Amino acid sequence: MELRVENVSKRFKNGVQALTPINLVLSQGVYGLLGPNGAGKSTLMKILTGNLEPTQGQVCYDDVSIQKNMRAYCHRIGYVPQNQGIYAQFTARQFLWYMAALKGLPKRLAREQVNGLLVTVGLEQVAGQKLGGFSGGMKQRVLIAQALLGKPEIIILDEPTAGLDPMERIHIRNFISNLASEKIILLSTHVVSDVADIAKQIILLSHGKILFQESAKDLCEKLNGHVFICHAEAKHLSQIKENYLVSSISELLGGKVRLRLIVKNDAHCPFKDKLLCSVAKTSPDLQDVYLAYLGESGRDGFSEGVSYANIPF
Ligand SMILES: Nc1ncnc2c1ncn2[C@@H]1O[C@H](COP(=O)(O)OP(=O)(O)OP(=O)(O)O)[C@@H](O)[C@H]1O
Ligand SMILES: [Mg+2]
Repeated sequence: MELRVENVSKRFKNGVQALTPINLVLSQGVYGLLGPNGAGKSTLMKILTGNLEPTQGQVCYDDVSIQKNMRAYCHRIGYVPQNQGIYAQFTARQFLWYMAALKGLPKRLAREQVNGLLVTVGLEQVAGQKLGGFSGGMKQRVLIAQALLGKPEIIILDEPTAGLDPMERIHIRNFISNLASEKIILLSTHVVSDVADIAKQIILLSHGKILFQESAKDLCEKLNGHVFICHAEAKHLSQIKENYLVSSISELLGGKVRLRLIVKNDAHCPFKDKLLCSVAKTSPDLQDVYLAYLGESGRDGFSEGVSYANIPF
Protein backbone atom coordinates (compact mmCIF):
# COMPACT_ATOMS: atom_id res chain seq x y z
CA MET A 1 0.00 0.00 0.00
CA GLU A 2 1.82 3.08 -1.24
CA LEU A 3 0.65 6.50 -2.35
CA ARG A 4 3.34 8.38 -4.24
CA VAL A 5 3.36 12.04 -5.21
CA GLU A 6 5.82 12.50 -8.08
CA ASN A 7 6.97 16.02 -8.99
CA VAL A 8 3.50 17.42 -8.48
CA SER A 9 3.06 21.16 -8.93
CA LYS A 10 -0.06 23.33 -9.14
CA ARG A 11 -0.39 26.75 -10.69
CA PHE A 12 -3.88 28.24 -10.71
CA LYS A 13 -5.22 30.29 -13.62
CA ASN A 14 -4.81 33.49 -11.56
CA GLY A 15 -1.05 32.82 -11.52
CA VAL A 16 -0.83 31.57 -7.91
CA GLN A 17 1.77 28.83 -7.62
CA ALA A 18 0.11 26.81 -4.82
CA LEU A 19 2.52 23.87 -5.06
CA THR A 20 6.06 23.82 -6.39
CA PRO A 21 7.12 20.37 -7.61
CA ILE A 22 6.81 18.15 -4.57
CA ASN A 23 7.57 14.50 -3.90
CA LEU A 24 6.08 12.37 -1.14
CA VAL A 25 5.69 8.71 -0.34
CA LEU A 26 2.90 7.66 2.03
CA SER A 27 2.45 4.13 3.31
CA GLN A 28 0.23 2.69 6.04
CA GLY A 29 -0.17 4.96 9.10
CA VAL A 30 -1.12 8.50 10.09
CA TYR A 31 0.66 11.46 8.51
CA GLY A 32 0.24 14.96 9.91
CA LEU A 33 0.23 17.70 7.29
CA LEU A 34 1.17 20.96 8.96
CA GLY A 35 1.54 24.40 7.48
CA PRO A 36 0.31 27.96 7.82
CA ASN A 37 -2.70 29.41 5.96
CA GLY A 38 -2.15 29.34 2.22
CA ALA A 39 0.72 26.83 2.41
CA GLY A 40 -0.97 24.53 -0.13
CA LYS A 41 -2.37 21.81 2.17
CA SER A 42 -5.89 21.76 0.73
CA THR A 43 -4.53 21.99 -2.82
CA LEU A 44 -2.35 18.93 -2.20
CA MET A 45 -5.29 17.06 -0.67
CA LYS A 46 -7.56 17.91 -3.60
CA ILE A 47 -4.92 16.57 -5.98
CA LEU A 48 -4.53 13.39 -3.90
CA THR A 49 -8.28 12.82 -3.98
CA GLY A 50 -8.54 13.47 -7.72
CA ASN A 51 -10.62 16.64 -7.23
CA LEU A 52 -7.96 18.80 -8.83
CA GLU A 53 -5.51 18.04 -11.61
CA PRO A 54 -1.87 18.87 -11.05
CA THR A 55 -0.23 21.27 -13.49
CA GLN A 56 2.71 18.88 -13.64
CA GLY A 57 3.59 15.49 -12.22
CA GLN A 58 1.40 12.63 -11.14
CA VAL A 59 0.03 10.74 -8.14
CA CYS A 60 0.45 6.95 -8.17
CA TYR A 61 -1.26 4.43 -5.95
CA ASP A 62 0.54 1.09 -5.85
CA ASP A 63 2.57 2.15 -8.90
CA VAL A 64 -0.45 3.04 -11.06
CA SER A 65 -1.23 6.65 -11.94
CA ILE A 66 -4.55 7.57 -10.31
CA GLN A 67 -5.55 9.36 -13.53
CA LYS A 68 -5.48 6.02 -15.36
CA ASN A 69 -8.24 4.50 -13.28
CA MET A 70 -9.93 7.29 -11.37
CA ARG A 71 -13.17 5.35 -10.88
CA ALA A 72 -11.50 2.48 -9.07
CA TYR A 73 -9.25 4.87 -7.15
CA CYS A 74 -12.25 6.89 -5.89
CA HIS A 75 -13.60 3.75 -4.22
CA ARG A 76 -10.39 3.45 -2.26
CA ILE A 77 -10.48 7.03 -0.95
CA GLY A 78 -12.41 8.61 1.91
CA TYR A 79 -12.27 12.41 2.07
CA VAL A 80 -13.39 15.08 4.50
CA PRO A 81 -12.87 18.41 2.71
CA GLN A 82 -12.16 21.62 4.61
CA ASN A 83 -15.30 23.57 5.60
CA GLN A 84 -17.58 20.98 4.13
CA GLY A 85 -21.23 21.92 4.18
CA ILE A 86 -23.70 19.49 5.65
CA TYR A 87 -27.36 18.95 4.79
CA ALA A 88 -29.11 20.48 7.80
CA GLN A 89 -32.45 18.82 7.06
CA PHE A 90 -31.01 15.28 6.98
CA THR A 91 -30.73 13.18 10.08
CA ALA A 92 -27.30 11.66 10.73
CA ARG A 93 -28.59 8.27 9.56
CA GLN A 94 -30.21 9.69 6.41
CA PHE A 95 -27.01 11.56 5.54
CA LEU A 96 -24.89 8.41 5.84
CA TRP A 97 -27.40 6.42 3.75
CA TYR A 98 -27.33 9.18 1.14
CA MET A 99 -23.51 9.16 1.01
CA ALA A 100 -23.49 5.36 0.88
CA ALA A 101 -25.79 5.53 -2.16
CA LEU A 102 -23.51 8.11 -3.84
CA LYS A 103 -20.59 5.77 -3.25
CA GLY A 104 -22.57 2.94 -4.84
CA LEU A 105 -22.58 0.70 -1.77
CA PRO A 106 -25.02 -2.25 -2.04
CA LYS A 107 -27.96 -1.92 0.39
CA ARG A 108 -26.89 -4.75 2.67
CA LEU A 109 -23.37 -3.34 3.09
CA ALA A 110 -24.73 0.18 3.50
CA ARG A 111 -27.03 -0.91 6.36
CA GLU A 112 -24.22 -2.77 8.09
CA GLN A 113 -21.71 0.06 7.72
CA VAL A 114 -24.06 2.96 8.52
CA ASN A 115 -25.11 1.24 11.75
CA GLY A 116 -21.53 0.28 12.61
CA LEU A 117 -20.11 3.74 11.91
CA LEU A 118 -22.78 5.51 13.94
CA VAL A 119 -21.64 3.42 16.90
CA THR A 120 -17.94 3.95 16.12
CA VAL A 121 -18.27 7.74 16.10
CA GLY A 122 -20.52 7.68 19.16
CA LEU A 123 -23.64 9.07 17.49
CA GLU A 124 -26.02 6.10 17.61
CA GLN A 125 -28.16 7.80 20.28
CA VAL A 126 -28.74 10.87 18.08
CA ALA A 127 -28.79 9.10 14.71
CA GLY A 128 -32.43 10.11 14.14
CA GLN A 129 -31.87 13.80 14.88
CA LYS A 130 -31.39 16.48 12.23
CA LEU A 131 -27.82 17.58 11.46
CA GLY A 132 -28.87 21.24 11.66
CA GLY A 133 -29.13 20.84 15.44
CA PHE A 134 -25.74 19.14 15.86
CA SER A 135 -22.74 20.80 17.51
CA GLY A 136 -19.56 21.40 15.45
CA GLY A 137 -17.91 18.31 16.91
CA MET A 138 -20.92 16.09 16.20
CA LYS A 139 -21.08 17.34 12.58
CA GLN A 140 -17.40 16.63 12.19
CA ARG A 141 -17.91 13.07 13.45
CA VAL A 142 -20.67 12.51 10.90
CA LEU A 143 -18.36 13.80 8.16
CA ILE A 144 -15.59 11.47 9.27
CA ALA A 145 -18.09 8.59 9.34
CA GLN A 146 -19.11 9.29 5.72
CA ALA A 147 -15.45 9.24 4.71
CA LEU A 148 -15.18 5.73 6.16
CA LEU A 149 -18.12 4.29 4.23
CA GLY A 150 -16.97 1.64 1.79
CA LYS A 151 -13.92 0.88 3.97
CA PRO A 152 -11.46 2.98 1.93
CA GLU A 153 -7.73 2.33 2.22
CA ILE A 154 -6.79 6.00 2.02
CA ILE A 155 -8.37 8.61 4.29
CA ILE A 156 -7.77 12.31 3.65
CA LEU A 157 -8.95 14.66 6.39
CA ASP A 158 -8.60 18.40 5.76
CA GLU A 159 -8.60 20.11 9.16
CA PRO A 160 -11.07 17.75 10.83
CA THR A 161 -10.58 19.37 14.23
CA ALA A 162 -10.93 23.04 13.20
CA GLY A 163 -13.13 24.94 15.61
CA LEU A 164 -13.59 22.07 18.06
CA ASP A 165 -13.23 22.29 21.83
CA PRO A 166 -10.27 20.51 23.51
CA MET A 167 -12.33 17.47 24.59
CA GLU A 168 -13.77 16.96 21.13
CA ARG A 169 -10.30 17.39 19.64
CA ILE A 170 -8.99 14.59 21.86
CA HIS A 171 -11.97 12.42 20.99
CA ILE A 172 -11.40 12.82 17.24
CA ARG A 173 -7.64 12.42 17.61
CA ASN A 174 -8.02 9.11 19.44
CA PHE A 175 -10.58 7.96 16.96
CA ILE A 176 -8.28 8.70 13.99
CA SER A 177 -5.39 7.01 15.73
CA ASN A 178 -7.47 3.83 16.14
CA LEU A 179 -8.23 3.80 12.41
CA ALA A 180 -4.61 3.73 11.41
CA SER A 181 -4.08 0.00 10.98
CA GLU A 182 -4.00 -0.96 7.31
CA LYS A 183 -4.90 2.51 6.11
CA ILE A 184 -3.05 5.53 4.83
CA ILE A 185 -4.34 8.54 6.73
CA LEU A 186 -3.35 12.10 5.88
CA LEU A 187 -4.59 14.72 8.29
CA SER A 188 -4.05 18.45 7.90
CA THR A 189 -4.15 20.86 10.82
CA HIS A 190 -2.73 24.09 12.18
CA VAL A 191 -2.70 22.63 15.66
CA VAL A 192 0.55 20.82 16.30
CA SER A 193 -0.81 18.86 19.28
CA ASP A 194 -3.45 17.27 17.03
CA VAL A 195 -0.77 15.21 15.29
CA ALA A 196 2.27 15.26 17.60
CA ASP A 197 1.44 11.96 19.29
CA ILE A 198 -0.50 10.06 16.63
CA ALA A 199 1.36 10.75 13.39
CA LYS A 200 4.15 8.43 12.31
CA GLN A 201 5.51 11.30 10.25
CA ILE A 202 4.99 15.04 10.11
CA ILE A 203 4.98 16.77 6.75
CA LEU A 204 5.56 20.52 6.91
CA LEU A 205 4.39 22.52 3.93
CA SER A 206 5.20 26.21 3.49
CA HIS A 207 4.72 28.32 0.36
CA GLY A 208 3.93 25.17 -1.61
CA LYS A 209 7.19 23.47 -0.64
CA ILE A 210 7.79 20.53 1.66
CA LEU A 211 10.24 21.58 4.35
CA PHE A 212 10.42 18.10 5.89
CA GLN A 213 8.76 14.70 6.17
CA GLU A 214 10.04 13.08 9.36
CA SER A 215 8.91 11.54 12.61
CA ALA A 216 8.12 13.95 15.47
CA LYS A 217 10.79 12.21 17.55
CA ASP A 218 13.55 12.79 14.97
CA LEU A 219 12.49 16.38 14.45
CA CYS A 220 12.56 17.11 18.18
CA GLU A 221 15.95 15.43 18.56
CA LYS A 222 17.42 17.74 15.95
CA LEU A 223 16.45 20.72 18.07
CA ASN A 224 17.95 19.21 21.23
CA GLY A 225 20.04 21.68 23.18
CA HIS A 226 18.42 24.73 21.62
CA VAL A 227 15.28 25.10 23.74
CA PHE A 228 15.33 26.78 27.16
CA ILE A 229 12.95 27.87 29.85
CA CYS A 230 13.80 30.93 31.87
CA HIS A 231 12.47 34.02 33.62
CA ALA A 232 12.88 37.64 32.53
CA GLU A 233 11.51 41.14 33.04
CA ALA A 234 8.52 41.70 30.76
CA LYS A 235 9.95 45.08 29.69
CA HIS A 236 12.94 43.29 28.08
CA LEU A 237 10.80 41.10 25.83
CA SER A 238 11.39 42.93 22.57
CA GLN A 239 15.16 42.91 23.19
CA ILE A 240 15.05 39.18 24.00
CA LYS A 241 13.15 38.50 20.78
CA GLU A 242 16.09 39.84 18.81
CA ASN A 243 18.18 36.84 19.81
CA TYR A 244 15.65 34.10 20.48
CA LEU A 245 12.37 32.77 19.17
CA VAL A 246 9.78 32.88 21.92
CA SER A 247 7.81 29.63 21.92
CA SER A 248 5.61 30.55 24.88
CA ILE A 249 5.17 33.33 27.42
CA SER A 250 3.39 33.20 30.76
CA GLU A 251 3.03 36.26 32.94
CA LEU A 252 4.29 36.14 36.52
CA LEU A 253 3.81 38.60 39.36
CA GLY A 254 5.96 41.73 39.63
CA GLY A 255 6.35 42.47 35.92
CA LYS A 256 8.17 39.19 35.24
CA VAL A 257 7.51 36.57 32.59
CA ARG A 258 8.32 32.90 32.22
CA LEU A 259 9.60 32.16 28.73
CA ARG A 260 10.25 29.17 26.52
CA LEU A 261 12.98 30.17 24.09
CA ILE A 262 14.64 28.72 21.04
CA VAL A 263 18.16 29.91 20.39
CA LYS A 264 18.44 31.41 16.93
CA ASN A 265 22.15 30.87 16.54
CA ASP A 266 25.00 29.54 18.60
CA ALA A 267 26.48 32.99 19.19
CA HIS A 268 23.85 33.57 21.92
CA CYS A 269 24.14 31.48 25.04
CA PRO A 270 21.11 31.98 27.31
CA PHE A 271 23.17 31.02 30.38
CA LYS A 272 25.39 34.07 29.82
CA ASP A 273 22.56 36.42 28.88
CA LYS A 274 22.10 39.15 31.52
CA LEU A 275 18.45 39.64 30.54
CA LEU A 276 17.57 36.06 31.48
CA CYS A 277 17.53 34.33 34.88
CA SER A 278 16.71 30.80 36.16
CA VAL A 279 17.76 29.47 32.76
CA ALA A 280 17.37 25.72 32.18
CA LYS A 281 17.60 23.54 29.11
CA THR A 282 14.40 21.70 28.24
CA SER A 283 13.34 18.98 25.80
CA PRO A 284 12.10 20.34 22.47
CA ASP A 285 8.55 19.56 21.44
CA LEU A 286 6.90 19.67 18.03
CA GLN A 287 5.56 23.16 18.66
CA ASP A 288 9.18 24.34 19.05
CA VAL A 289 10.10 22.61 15.79
CA TYR A 290 7.21 24.26 13.97
CA LEU A 291 8.26 27.65 15.29
CA ALA A 292 11.92 27.05 14.51
CA TYR A 293 11.11 26.32 10.88
CA LEU A 294 8.39 28.85 10.25
CA GLY A 295 9.20 31.71 12.60
CA GLU A 296 6.80 33.61 14.81
CA SER A 297 4.88 35.00 11.86
CA GLY A 298 4.17 31.40 10.89
CA ARG A 299 5.08 31.94 7.27
CA ASP A 300 8.41 33.52 6.52
CA GLY A 301 11.06 31.60 8.38
CA PHE A 302 12.58 33.35 11.36
CA SER A 303 11.16 36.77 12.02
CA GLU A 304 13.56 39.71 11.93
CA GLY A 305 14.98 38.38 8.70
CA VAL A 306 16.74 35.28 10.01
CA SER A 307 16.10 32.32 7.72
CA TYR A 308 15.21 28.91 9.09
CA ALA A 309 18.23 27.69 7.16
CA ASN A 310 20.36 29.44 9.80
CA ILE A 311 19.03 27.39 12.63
CA PRO A 312 21.92 25.53 14.20
CA PHE A 313 20.92 21.93 13.49
N1 LIG B 1 -9.15 27.66 -6.86
C1 LIG B 1 -8.13 28.49 -6.63
N2 LIG B 1 -7.84 29.47 -7.49
C2 LIG B 1 -6.80 30.30 -7.27
N3 LIG B 1 -5.98 30.25 -6.21
C3 LIG B 1 -6.22 29.29 -5.31
C4 LIG B 1 -7.31 28.36 -5.45
N4 LIG B 1 -7.31 27.51 -4.39
C5 LIG B 1 -6.26 27.90 -3.62
N5 LIG B 1 -5.62 28.95 -4.16
C6 LIG B 1 -4.42 29.61 -3.61
O1 LIG B 1 -3.41 28.62 -3.46
C7 LIG B 1 -2.68 28.84 -2.26
C8 LIG B 1 -2.78 27.57 -1.39
O2 LIG B 1 -4.12 27.46 -0.93
P1 LIG B 1 -4.60 26.22 -0.05
O3 LIG B 1 -6.07 26.37 0.13
O4 LIG B 1 -4.10 24.96 -0.65
O5 LIG B 1 -3.83 26.50 1.32
P2 LIG B 1 -4.00 25.78 2.74
O6 LIG B 1 -2.64 25.37 3.20
O7 LIG B 1 -5.04 24.74 2.68
O8 LIG B 1 -4.49 27.00 3.65
P3 LIG B 1 -5.51 26.99 4.93
O9 LIG B 1 -4.67 26.56 6.09
O10 LIG B 1 -5.91 28.42 5.04
O11 LIG B 1 -6.64 26.08 4.62
C9 LIG B 1 -3.26 30.08 -1.62
O12 LIG B 1 -2.46 31.17 -2.01
C10 LIG B 1 -4.64 30.18 -2.23
O13 LIG B 1 -5.06 31.52 -2.29
MG1 LIG C 1 -6.81 24.43 3.60
